[in-house]
Amino acid sequence: MKRSTLTLALLTLPLAPALAAEAPYRDMTSYIDYGKSPKASDDAKHTNTYQYWKDNRKIDPEISNSLTDFWKVNWKYRDAPYDDTLHGGHDALERGEEVYKQLNAKGDFAACLGAKKGDLKGLRLTYPRFDKELGGIVGLEARIEHCAARQGMKLENGSYDNTAVSVYVTSFSNGMPLKIDVTREPMKSAFERGKKLFHTKAGWTNFSCATCHVSLVGKGLRGQIPTTHYGDIGHWPTWRSKDELQSLHVRFTECNRNAGVQPLKVGSPEYHDIEVFMTALSNGMPVTVPSQRD
Ligand code: HEC
Repeated sequence: MKRSTLTLALLTLPLAPALAAEAPYRDMTSYIDYGKSPKASDDAKHTNTYQYWKDNRKIDPEISNSLTDFWKVNWKYRDAPYDDTLHGGHDALERGEEVYKQLNAKGDFAACLGAKKGDLKGLRLTYPRFDKELGGIVGLEARIEHCAARQGMKLENGSYDNTAVSVYVTSFSNGMPLKIDVTREPMKSAFERGKKLFHTKAGWTNFSCATCHVSLVGKGLRGQIPTTHYGDIGHWPTWRSKDELQSLHVRFTECNRNAGVQPLKVGSPEYHDIEVFMTALSNGMPVTVPSQRD
């Protein structure tokens, strides 16, 4: 080794860690085995509740009537066609159609969302995805905001109208199983980042998403019972029975707040990574909107 190189090496080695911006230390909830190509049915290996919620049409009445076991149906008993009672999600669907038609008067909006020949069928299944134009992974709602802006309409991600348009567009995929591919880049890395975030503890409770949705599944928590994080995404956006239309990212902010964690911005790269992670864990589950959740 040349003398100058050696000096450089000696100088830079001890300095490097001090110069690098140090990420705060975080505890992690241990990973479970997610495999490379996850799907909703993998839950059978973990919380073993898949058998109760896999088929929205055939929920065992004994389970849904049991006070101690009904959480195992993972609230799927609320999904149509099992439960088609009218709720605010139906209003959202109508409002979504109205706004969509206004935006799509010339067909540009549908094309911008990625619909082939204006056909919305199956479009929901192509999200979240890598978006060259927006330079990252985006969900349907982020793309809706972007495409609406192109038509001169402000439709902020997380707002009622944005989410309503998402419900409307999503409804054309009803019954079709989610199937995002996380085996290839850049989705693969997004999945890995989402998985890491889901298992990273934060806030004054030092809880991760996985503390509740993996470790505390089936255990009461301030009157609520967290359920598995498998198979949840097909019914989003959803109508919450507390009278709120929610997009998935808005739900993330609520879970963050419940766990004493500062929520991130709806549409942030981190929430999109968690969306990729959770959507992969729902692969195989059919899209079901408008849905309702407590
Ligand atoms: C303090 C416990 C707790 C933490 C931490 C937590 N959640 Fe939740 N979460 C719940 C409970 C309880 C529910 C409602 C019951 C259910 O659906 O599991 C819920 C529901 C959800 C739902 C809706 C499920 C559905 O489709 O109805 C999503 C999505 C979700 N959580 C994601 C997350 C994410 C992402 C994080 C981390 C950023 C997180 N949660 C952290 C307790 C928690």
